[in-house]
Parts: sequence; C-alpha cells; structure tokens
Amino acid sequence: MKLWALEYLLCPETGSPVELRDAVCEDGEVMAGSLRGASGREYPIRRGVPDLTLQPVSSAEDQTVAAFGEEWDIFDYREGFVASRELFFTFFPVLQRDDFPGRVVLDAGCGNGRWLGRMAEMGSRRVIGMDYSCSVHNSWLNTRHLPNVTVVQGSILQPPLRPGVFDLIASMGVIHHLDDPVRGMRELGTLLRPQGKIAVWLYGQEGNELYLSMVRPLRKLCPHLPTKLLLLLSRMLAVPVWAHAHATNRWWGTRRDGTGRLPMAGYFDFLSNLTFDDVVSTVYDQLTPQLARYYRRDEVDALFADARLTLTACDTPRGNSYSVAGTRAISGAKSECCGRKVA
Ligand SMILES: C[S@@+](CC[C@H](N)C(=O)[O-])C[C@H]1O[C@@H](n2cnc3c(N)ncnc32)[C@H](O)[C@@H]1O
Repeated sequence: MKLWALEYLLCPETGSPVELRDAVCEDGEVMAGSLRGASGREYPIRRGVPDLTLQPVSSAEDQTVAAFGEEWDIFDYREGFVASRELFFTFFPVLQRDDFPGRVVLDAGCGNGRWLGRMAEMGSRRVIGMDYSCSVHNSWLNTRHLPNVTVVQGSILQPPLRPGVFDLIASMGVIHHLDDPVRGMRELGTLLRPQGKIAVWLYGQEGNELYLSMVRPLRKLCPHLPTKLLLLLSRMLAVPVWAHAHATNRWWGTRRDGTGRLPMAGYFDFLSNLTFDDVVSTVYDQLTPQLARYYRRDEVDALFADARLTLTACDTPRGNSYSVAGTRAISGAKSECCGRKVA
C-alpha cells in the first residue's frame, strides 16, 4: 500500500477515517501493520495490501469471490493481448484516452490487476485497484513498481473508500457478479466526484441466447466442482471453442458486408486473438462463479436509474455485451443515449 492511499481509505463498518499502526515500510510501500477505525476495529495490512473486508453478504457471494481468487491465482497473466490497451478499449468504447490524464481512478473489482498499469500509463494521477478476493495479492505484485497505483482488498457493496473523491470509476465484468448489483452501482456512485464518470462492462442477454442455453445447465454444476476438475473441463471445452474461433468462424462466420452468418461471429472473432491458455481462462471464468447475471438493454437502463446514475453512453461490444457510461444523477435531469431518453 502506498502511503498516499490513506487519503482515500475509510473504515467500511463505520465510515470513519482509519489510522495507520505499526507500519513496516519498504521502498515507499507499507508492507505490514494495520489500519484502525474509530470503533477500534483493526484491519490488517498483509504483503502490501490492506484487508478492509467485512463479512460476505451471502453464501453465493462468498463462493463467487473465493472462486475468482482461485482463478486469478491460476491465471495471473499480466502481459500480452489480454492485458493490452487495445483490448481495454474494445471493452470500453465509452471511454477515451483523455478520460485518464490527471485523474483519480478506481478499478472496482480489479481481479489480477491487468488494467491498473494501463490506466496508470495513460496519465492517471492515482489509480486504486480494489477487489474483494485474494486476487489483490497478484494485483499488488503486478503493480507495486508503479508509484501512482495502490491496491486495496474491499467490497463494492461495503467500500472502504471516501465518498466523492474519484474522477473515474471503471469496472469490467464485475457488477453482474454482485449479490446486489443495484446496491453496488449506488455505492460506486457515491464515490464519484460530482462531475465524475463511471463506466461498467456487463454481460448482455441479447446475442448470448444460444450460448446461455448451453452454459446455464453447466453453471449449476461447475461452481461446486473441485478446482482441478473444473480446470480439466475448461481445457477440454476450450479445444472446440478455439478450433471454431480459428477455423469455421474465421472462414464462414462473417459475410462480406461484415454481418454475422454464424451465431456469435463477433465474439468468436474476438476469441481468435487469444492464445489457447487465454481461451481456457475465458471458459473457466464463465463456469466458476455462482453469481452471474445477463442484462437485457431495458435492465441496463433500470440498473442505472435504480442506482440514481444518469446513463450517458451505451455500446454493445461484440454484439453480446454492454459497455455503459454514466454520471451521478442530478435530480430532475434527463439524458439521451442511443437515441432514447434515459431518466
Ligand atoms: C470476471 S472478474 C473481472 C476482473 C477484472 N475486472 C478484469 O477485467 O480482469 C470479476 C472480479 O470481481 C471481483 N468481485 C466480485 N464481487 C466483488 C465485490 N463485492 N467487490 C469487489 N470485487 C468483487 C472478483 O473477485 C473478480 O476478481
């Protein structure tokens, strides 16, 4: 944890400031010690990361977060296309490069931290990566050399962060895994500065109908499998997925005019940029969590409205997901997105 992180941290239980105690520092990082809230509750700092988590809100959240912690231990990649700026912007066409310079940025649900370095390189003043799972330790290893990046273990549903301090919050593939996505979005909204921007990438229901009909039954079973068995199953499933992405979909997936001839042509086209191991990780990622929602467009609108956020831009990467940006709602204001009025 960088010392400057103290400016942003709060006790998640009481919302009070935290006091640093018994700090052991190394090269500008607080490696060990604890943070104490006003109630006297102590939060340990282990291997450079403060653990500001409270109890999970449900057993499904507990399973989902533990599963992702294991996933990022197995797939701790930090380089290549899967962690590239190019890929970042294909998930987030609603963001631009000039959203970053000089800004204080939160990556909410940062996983193994693959985007923290990209956000820092684009000129962010400070980048905080937060995740509920033990993946924070991989995030920390991947970013400890960056003076403007720090990593915190905490939950979006009980964020240990000061309200109103972030210029930009980005959250890729996280909100649909929350036990209570509206609450999560609302909590994130309170962390934004008044003119701040939030961008989330969500699974879409439209464009995923065929996929969901195959994966939903597997999702009932897979989160309960031992890790090694799930990894083996993911490797086996990755073979036809990889072959289809590189052969049938490449040859016949798309018509000359760019429209898809085969189902999910855009998605398989994206998968063809990944290595085989990345495809294994993508399959594993789909099968491991208990909590995963797929949003229809009207549900995306409702998510933002219910979280009291104003939706300002919405795109549909690869035709089967939503990339959505918004701001804190100013009461009574209306915004327009994709040609529709959004409350
Ligand atoms: C599919 S991964 C995405 C990780 C990262 N955003 C990326 O694009 O590589 C979802 C992440 O959300 C995290 N997560 C789930 N529930 C969370 C919560 N309540 N608060 C913070 N992070 C959470 C998981 O631990 C996991 O790392």
